[in-house]
Amino acid sequence: MDFEDIETVAVLGAGNMGHGIAEVAALAGYEVRMRDIKEEFVQNGYDNIEWSLNKLAEKDRLTQAEADDALDRVTPLVDVAEAVGDADVIIEAVPEKMEIKKDVYTDVEQHAPEEAIFATNTSSLSITELSEVTERPEQFCGMHFFNPPVRMQLVEVITGAHTSDETLDTVEQLAEEFGKSPVRVRKDSPGFIVNRILVPLMNEACWLVHDDVATIAEVDSTTKFDIGLPMGALELSDQVGNDVGLHVLEYMHETLGEAYDPCPLLEAKVEDEKLGKKTGEGFYDYENGGADVPR
Ligand code: 3HC
Repeated sequence: MDFEDIETVAVLGAGNMGHGIAEVAALAGYEVRMRDIKEEFVQNGYDNIEWSLNKLAEKDRLTQAEADDALDRVTPLVDVAEAVGDADVIIEAVPEKMEIKKDVYTDVEQHAPEEAIFATNTSSLSITELSEVTERPEQFCGMHFFNPPVRMQLVEVITGAHTSDETLDTVEQLAEEFGKSPVRVRKDSPGFIVNRILVPLMNEACWLVHDDVATIAEVDSTTKFDIGLPMGALELSDQVGNDVGLHVLEYMHETLGEAYDPCPLLEAKVEDEKLGKKTGEGFYDYENGGADVPR
């Protein structure tokens, strides 16, 4: 698939990342099919895109007409065949579980055009292993966005063992057309570049609180003001989703070793469904003051 021939982008998954990626593609002028397994999930994703576009217009980052046009380009769908049947690029952003993603690819393979590129937004899983459940491993790569996609500049484009150079070039050009700065990750390795650094950092922040070395506020003010992150480490964990961070850590622990042992405090947040901003509570209470009010 040549970059110039891309007109339609399918995004699988309408969650935190899926709806954000669909929004980015629509803002770049592409026809977008956004698919999730239930009507309510797709509707929720669509509502989130509408909220975000209106917020960007309110902040003068784009005009209201540009926001409205972008929303018009997004078609929310539940049916897989309809979502991918005429797609040139299919970006998958379903939950960070190898088995779920493999099932999705097995299904999608049956309905997608032969020349379509498959790009996974996985945060850490093996691109090579995922590509091998498809009949097009050379047309398969990682395309990893950051949360919130509409505001974050970087996209990691990750090669699998079978990915062709043509696929990587096309996906990098697409990322640029999306207004992003792609970085090519030359080797398929757990967590790629950013999450290999960032997820252990968020985990260490949890250990400091768990071990009673520092409070949430002390850890976050240190990471924000002294280390220079745009958000405190625990606020960032809430932003990406404590469940997402935990899944990445569990995979890195399994594949890379002991250093990536998840902190029990993080595990408890996930068990209590305190997943961060998306559930209204995590390390902070977003119904009552957000990052100003640590739990
Ligand atoms: N769309 C539109 N507006 C949004 C938004 C979205 N998706 N998300 C937040 N906003 C709005 C907020 O509601 C707020 O509006 P308000 O002022 O009316 O309340 C406004 O944006 C805040 O934006 P500002 O530019 O004023 O504030 P900042 O300068 O702090 O920028 C930020 C916000 C860009 C999110 C910045 O804090 C940041 O860069 N944070 C770090 C995020 C990060 O590192 N993400 C990567 C995590 S790793 C990852 O995702 C990988 C995964 O695999 C785990």
